[in-house]
Amino acid sequence: MTDLRSGLGEAVSAAFASIGLPAEWGRVAASDRPDLADFQCNGAMAAGKAGKGNPRQIAQQAADRLIGHPLVAGVEVAGPGFINLRVSQAALTERMNRLAADARSGASRVKAPRRVIVDYGGPNVAKEMHVGHLRASIIGEAVKRLFRFRGDEVKGDAHFGDWGFQMGLLIVACGDEDSEISALIESADPDPAGEAILDRVSLADLDRLYPAAAAKAKTDDTYRDRARRATAELQAGKPGYQLLWRHFARVTREALARDFHALGIDFDLWRGESDVDPLIEPMVGDLADKHLLIDDAGARIVRVAKNDDRRGVPPLLVVSSEGSAMYGTTDLATILDRKELFDPELALYVVDQRQADHFETVFRAAYLAGYAAPGSLEHIGFGTMNGPDGKPFKTRTGGVLKLRDLIDMVTEKARERLHAADLGAELPAEEFEATALKVGVATLKFADLINFRGTSYVFDLDRFSSFEGKTGPYLLYQAVRVKSLLRKAAEGGASGGQIRIAEPAERDLALALDDFDRVLIEAYERRAPNLVADHAYRLAQIFSRFYAGCPVLAAPNEATRASRLAIAKLTLDQLELALDLLGIATPERM
Ligand code: ARG
Repeated sequence: MTDLRSGLGEAVSAAFASIGLPAEWGRVAASDRPDLADFQCNGAMAAGKAGKGNPRQIAQQAADRLIGHPLVAGVEVAGPGFINLRVSQAALTERMNRLAADARSGASRVKAPRRVIVDYGGPNVAKEMHVGHLRASIIGEAVKRLFRFRGDEVKGDAHFGDWGFQMGLLIVACGDEDSEISALIESADPDPAGEAILDRVSLADLDRLYPAAAAKAKTDDTYRDRARRATAELQAGKPGYQLLWRHFARVTREALARDFHALGIDFDLWRGESDVDPLIEPMVGDLADKHLLIDDAGARIVRVAKNDDRRGVPPLLVVSSEGSAMYGTTDLATILDRKELFDPELALYVVDQRQADHFETVFRAAYLAGYAAPGSLEHIGFGTMNGPDGKPFKTRTGGVLKLRDLIDMVTEKARERLHAADLGAELPAEEFEATALKVGVATLKFADLINFRGTSYVFDLDRFSSFEGKTGPYLLYQAVRVKSLLRKAAEGGASGGQIRIAEPAERDLALALDDFDRVLIEAYERRAPNLVADHAYRLAQIFSRFYAGCPVLAAPNEATRASRLAIAKLTLDQLELALDLLGIATPERM
C-alpha cells in the first residue's frame, strides 16, 4: 500500500520521463506552503541547474501531463519552477478507507528483514545508575520497538555490567560485615545448603556497602588490594565467591527488571559481561595469531588508527599491564558471543555519546579481526539530560539516580496534575494509580524522545508534566478524549462507517495520517525516534482542530457521523501505535 506522496511521486516521475528527463527528479515532498498546496516537486529546478532548459518551462511541461491524473485535483507552477500539487478528494477518501482497514495504520515493512541486536540500558551491579543509563534505556527501547515493528528480527540486550572490580569490592565488604557469610565464601567447598544465608544480603545492603567500599578503596591500599585479589579469585572461579556474586547479580537484576518494566522497558536478554569471560582467553590467542596484538609497555593492544583519520583514534587495550581484560575486551568478546547466539546482521549500541571513541575503537578492532562485517556495528550516541542547574540530572534524594525514585517522582507529579485538572476523580483507586503511572512515564519519555537524541536538554518536570504543550500528558489526554468519544458513540448505538474526506480540517488530518509510513521509514533510517514523537504531536494537534471544527456525534447526517467516527478511530489507532513505538502506554480513561 503506497502513500499519497509516493503515488504522486510516481506520477510526476512518469511525467518527467515522458519529457525525456530522469525520473528521480520527480520526487515529491510535503508542501512548504500548506496554504497553497499539499505536495510539491522541486525537480524542475534540478533540471534547470543541470542545463536541461528553463525550469519554469520544464515544470509547466510536466504539470500539463499531470492534469487529469486520478490522484491530482490541481497542479500549478509557482516561483522559479516549483510544481505544486493538490490531492484529489477521491484519492484522499480512498486512502483513508484503506488505512482504516489496515491493522498497521499504513506502515510498511522492510523488504529484507535483518537480525538486529539493540544493546541498550547497560546497568551495572551495585554501581550507581546515571542519566546516561536512563536515556539509553528510553531511546534504546524506542529504537528496538521501531526496528521490530518495521519487520526486523530484533533482540534487546541489557549488556549487564556484572563483572569487574565492583564485584571484588562487594565480596570483601560483605565478608567483613558478616562472619557467617565470610566462612561460607572462603570455604574451599561451600555447602550448597548454607547458601540460604546469602539471602540476608539485600539490594539495600549492596546500595549501602558499595559506595562505602569504593570510597575506602580510594584511600586504603591494603583494602584495595584485597578487593583486587577477590576480583581475580572470583574470575578464576573460586566457588564461594561465585555463589555470592551470583546472588548479587540476581538481586540487582530482579530489582532493575521490575523498575525498568514499570517504565515500559523490557529487555529480551540480560547477557552479562561475565557471560563472555570464557571467550576472552581464546580471543586473545586468536588476535595474537592474526598478528593484531602488539606489546605496549607491558600491555597488549590492537592498533586501529588509520592514515586518513582526522582525529586520533586510541588503540584497543586488550590486556592491561596487570594482566586484566578491559571494558573494550569485554565488548569485543561480546561481539563473538552474539555471533554465536544470534548472528546479528546489525548491532546498534545505544550508549552515551561520551563513549563514542570507545566504540569506534572496538568496532575497528572487530572489523580488523573479522569478527563482524564492516559497517554492521553502529554506535547510537546521545546527549545528556540535565537538571535545572545545567548539570546531569539528579533526583531529589541526591547523587544516585534510582529508577524507583524517578518513577515515584514523575508519578507523584502526575497525580498532582490529574487532581488539578479535575481528571480521574471518578476512577477506582487502583485504576487512578495505574493511570498516574502511565502519565508519569509519558512525561519522562516524551520529554526525552521529542528531542533529536544528540541534543542535550534540561529536564523541567513542571513544563513536561503539563497537559498543555508538546508533552506526553497532552498526547495521552488527546488519545483518551478520542477513546471517550468512541465509547459515547457506541453507547448511543453509533458506529464508524465509510470515510469521506470533504472539509478542510478533514483533509489536513487525512494528509497527516497518510504521512505515517514516511515518518517511520525516516525514523528507522536515521535511528531517530524523535520523528515518531513529532508525528504523534502533529497528529494530536491536527485532530484537535478537526474535532473543534467538525462535529462528530452532532454531525449533520448519519453518513457524516459514521465517517467522522471512523476518522477518529483511525487517528486514535495511529496515535496509540506511534506512542507505543515510543514505549508509552495510553490509559483507557482519565
Ligand atoms: N555498563 C556500561 C556503563 O555503565 C554501559 C554498557 C554499554 N554497552 C556496551 N556494550 N558497552 O557505562
